[in-house]
Amino acid sequence: MTAEPVTKPLLRVLTGERTAIPPIWLMRQAGRYLPEYRALREKADGFLDLCFNSPLAAEITLQPVRRFGFDAAILFSDILVVPHALGQRVTFAQGEGPQLDPLEEPSALSGLRSDIDHNALEPVYATIARVKQDLPRTVALLGFCGAPWTLATYMIAGRGTADQFPARAFAYRHPDAFVRLIDVLVDASASYLCRQFAAGVDAVQIFDTWAGILPPAEFHTWCVQPVARIVDKVRSIVPQARIIGFPRGAGTNLGGYLEEVAIDAVGLDWTIGLDFARCNIQPRRPVQGNLDPLALLVGGEALDRSIDVILAALSDGPFVFNLGHGVLPDTPIAHVERLVTRVRAAASTG
Ligand code: CP3
Repeated sequence: MTAEPVTKPLLRVLTGERTAIPPIWLMRQAGRYLPEYRALREKADGFLDLCFNSPLAAEITLQPVRRFGFDAAILFSDILVVPHALGQRVTFAQGEGPQLDPLEEPSALSGLRSDIDHNALEPVYATIARVKQDLPRTVALLGFCGAPWTLATYMIAGRGTADQFPARAFAYRHPDAFVRLIDVLVDASASYLCRQFAAGVDAVQIFDTWAGILPPAEFHTWCVQPVARIVDKVRSIVPQARIIGFPRGAGTNLGGYLEEVAIDAVGLDWTIGLDFARCNIQPRRPVQGNLDPLALLVGGEALDRSIDVILAALSDGPFVFNLGHGVLPDTPIAHVERLVTRVRAAASTG
């Protein structure tokens, strides 16, 4: 079998190429701001049921690609399917975010499986196979998982919190148990990503949404090292695996992250200075980002200006246009259309 030439712009950037027009996709591009998503959401009982309903999840994955012509589809699922597949109870109450049975004490870890239950995740792999069939040839399919630290924050608190006090306190109070939890999550995540590649994703993103809340030493132990291990484990099974890291809020710790984590590209949140990104990050890895999701929601001048400064700073090197975090539910569709048009027009004339 001869290797297929790399025709997907996103994959070309992940191999270090600069493209004349940066590929564009958005974190949380499938979701509540889309009326067609809200219509399908009503058909499923709970949010996890939707994630595990392959025909509906495949359709939702494709919705934003059809509507906006994005360069990537991201699998419609959630990072919390991994705690679910480790035996923790996970539910999503309408409008209230995730609820898990919190791991309050080290003894609660004994209620978790030590290995991920792939049977519970079969529908996710089936979704990938379905999407793959319907995706245009130039559009990349992205899988994903949550990073161990970010998963641990939800598993320990049992919900989202603003400051992650429960997980941070647990890690200081019970370091041995916390290491055990992180180790389970490293193995589970690596195994999960390998199965996503086997099912057909072109690349994956590792979301470390809460990386920025830790002091530097803990950032190194709980974010850098576990993600580095996941990347190495995945590559030992899938040598060509393309992996994007997204350590949100890492700031000036990003340099250290890139030294140790063998990712192909790094997602930048909207607080990263563009000069810093251009001079210190992009020479080392392709970058992805970093429009403020609120500028997209507000639109108008603020949106145009924000798009233009990002393009001016980052489009001379390998670059994927994205947000600095997920699309906000109240974002008008017209603003997303304007974004895609402006990125493609500016880049092709500039
Ligand atoms: O990006 C995509 O379009 C793909 C799908 C995707 C979802 N969640 C769908 C979702 C992805 C990649 C995620 C990742 C995710 N999930 C993260 C990491 C990235 C980030 O946004 O920080 C985290 C921390 C979660 C956990 C999670 N899931 C929370 C905290 C919530 C509640 C907050 C919210 O936005 O409602 C969810 C629910 C969720 N995940 C929704 C969607 C579309 C909304 C659920 C609904 O429709 O009721």
